[in-house]
Amino acid sequence: MASDGNTSVMIGAMDDIIQRTRITVLIQGREVVVFYHKGEFYAMDMRCYHAGGPLHLGDIEDIDGKVCIICPWHKYKITLTDGEGLYEACNPRDFSTKWCSKGVKQRTHLVHVENGNVYVTLSDLSSPIDSDYYQSEKFKESIKVP
Ligand code: FES
Repeated sequence: MASDGNTSVMIGAMDDIIQRTRITVLIQGREVVVFYHKGEFYAMDMRCYHAGGPLHLGDIEDIDGKVCIICPWHKYKITLTDGEGLYEACNPRDFSTKWCSKGVKQRTHLVHVENGNVYVTLSDLSSPIDSDYYQSEKFKESIKVP
């Protein structure tokens, strides 16, 4: 995903994140989860696009050849590489099923490793994506304890 020129933020030592397999970080006020899975790092907004579920607590599964996080709340499937929402469609004629895309629903971010440290660069925020709502001030206000 392209960056809008945001600077990279060092979020931790590579070895530490590999050992923990996932961490959450706050970057410029944004809650981000970084996963390490089978040799790759992935970063995305921590709250699920559907209803704000905690993606950092989800399981990772391979679905139709794509590495996905499964939201623990309602089991939505989201690809780690692009934030694409996947669903399983059923053909009513023969009840066969196939995986389909809803398009990009979850905001992902760039991750890179340099000198043993992991860096995240927030993606270009100029085009809205469904998950953005759960990073907004409006949402944060709505969950504030009075
Ligand atoms: Fe993630 Fe509903 S909040 S599937």
